[in-house]
Parts: sequence; structure tokens; C-alpha cells
Amino acid sequence: MIRTNEFQSESLTIEIGETNFAKEQLFDIRKHAAELAHEIRNPLTTIQGFLELLKPTLQDMGRGEYADIALNEIERVNDIINHFLNDIKRNQCNKELLSINEILINIVRLFESESKVKNIELLTDFSEEDIQISIDKNALKQVLINLIKNAIEAIEENCTHTGFITIRTEKNEQQVFIHIIDNGCGMSSDTINQLFTPFYTTKTNGTGIGLSVCKDIIDYYKGTISIVTDQNKGSKITVALPLHNENH
Ligand SMILES: Nc1ncnc2c1ncn2[C@@H]1O[C@H](COP(=O)(O)OP(=O)(O)O)[C@@H](O)[C@H]1O
Ligand SMILES: [Mg+2]
Repeated sequence: MIRTNEFQSESLTIEIGETNFAKEQLFDIRKHAAELAHEIRNPLTTIQGFLELLKPTLQDMGRGEYADIALNEIERVNDIINHFLNDIKRNQCNKELLSINEILINIVRLFESESKVKNIELLTDFSEEDIQISIDKNALKQVLINLIKNAIEAIEENCTHTGFITIRTEKNEQQVFIHIIDNGCGMSSDTINQLFTPFYTTKTNGTGIGLSVCKDIIDYYKGTISIVTDQNKGSKITVALPLHNENH
């Protein structure tokens, strides 16, 4: 039996091929983030050097562990930056043949405990036939995690009822469709118009980066992202990606 939370009412549907701000204003957020991460490493190296110089003095004062803690934290920031830069490189070049069902099952597992704690039911409705696409695994995970996180946050925003998120897959001859359907707060037309604008957020602690990065990744793989939303009822976000074609 297939259970879904798909809301049925008059809703607003939009297809987003291009973001709605001028192309020349569209900056490559990943490139800027990479430059920023790279630049942060330089002052860090300076701080690390001076801390090493200070360490013997601090040790003489019986405060050697202060230097150790600070040096460990610098190392941690460096690790974070290195992972981030490696991820960016991977996102753009590690295409592999992936089973959509397998990826989605893993992602659902990631959210199992969070959704339980938040009293949200995660439902799956996968196409029986396993669908394969050629894409970077981390890039696809990044997109899906962002979309499910947004669905969870939309439900938290609208927390008067039990939350449901349905992840559904289907395909036609050319594409696979991954739908993330929530019964959260939905979006206003103002939000829809700015959804993919970098740094646009309606959340107090939001970054507004998630969807603009998702769109970059999906564009890169020649896919599309579309939205059906109804304020206070929920949203359905659909990612369409080209099927793997053995002739290409
Ligand atoms: N499933 C959803 N339901 C309602 N609103 C959403 C949903 N997904 C995204 N949004 C809206 O889009 C905005 C931008 O999302 P995003 O780029 O992921 O940034 P953030 O989550 O940090 O705010 C959100 O602040 C929210 O207003
Ligand atoms: Mg988000």
C-alpha cells in the first residue's frame, strides 16, 4: 500500500529553469566559498606560527594547555576547510552510475532519528524499477539532504499537526523525478520569487544558501527543479534529472 501525505488543493505551481535574477548578477557561490575558505587558511597559518612561538612562555607560566587547545582548534578549522575544498572539487567531476533507490534509502536512514524526535513521519514511495543515473554521489546527497532539511524545517514552522514527508520517485523515457512532499508551512509568492537567490531566507537562523547550491548542482547535471506549494498546507519539490543513457 502506498501512503502519502500529498496535499490536494488548489496550489501554486512554478517551473524554474532560470533563477529570476539577471544572469550577470548570478555569481558562482561555490567559487566564492572556495576562495573564502582558501583565504582563511593564510591568517590561520600566521596565528598558528605565533602560538607555537608563545607556547614555551605559556608552559613556563603553567598554562601550556591553553596553547595546545588553541593549536588543536586551528588544526580542526584547517581540516574543515580541506574537506570543504575537496568536496567542491569532487562535486564537479566524480560522475558515477548510481541507483536512486539505494541513495534514497541511505538518506532516509540519516534522517530517521531526527524525524522521530521531531514527530515527523518519513514515508517512501519508490518506483519499483530501480532507476540509475550518472551523477556525483556527494552532489546528489547534498541536494536531497538540503531538500529534506527544508521540509523538516517547514513542518516545524507549521507545528499544529503531525508532520509527514513523502519521498517519491518515478520516471519517464528521459528523466527520473524525485519528489519531496511535505505538509509544512508552504511558501508565499514573495518566497517563491526569491527562492534560489543566494542568501535569501525566511528563517531566523537560516543561511539561504541551500537551495541556490541545489540549483547550481542540478543545473550542472542538466536537470530541473520545480515547486508546487500551498501556504499552510505544504510543498512538493521535484528534482528531475536525465536518466543514464548507455549511448552517451
Ligand atoms: N519545503 C519548504 N517549505 C516551505 N518553505 C521552504 C521550503 N524549502 C525552502 N523554503 C523557503 O526557501 C527559503 C530558502 O531556503 P534555503 O535556500 O534552503 O535556505 P534556508 O533553509 O537556510 O533558509 C527558506 O528560508 C524558506 O522560506
Ligand atoms: Mg535550507
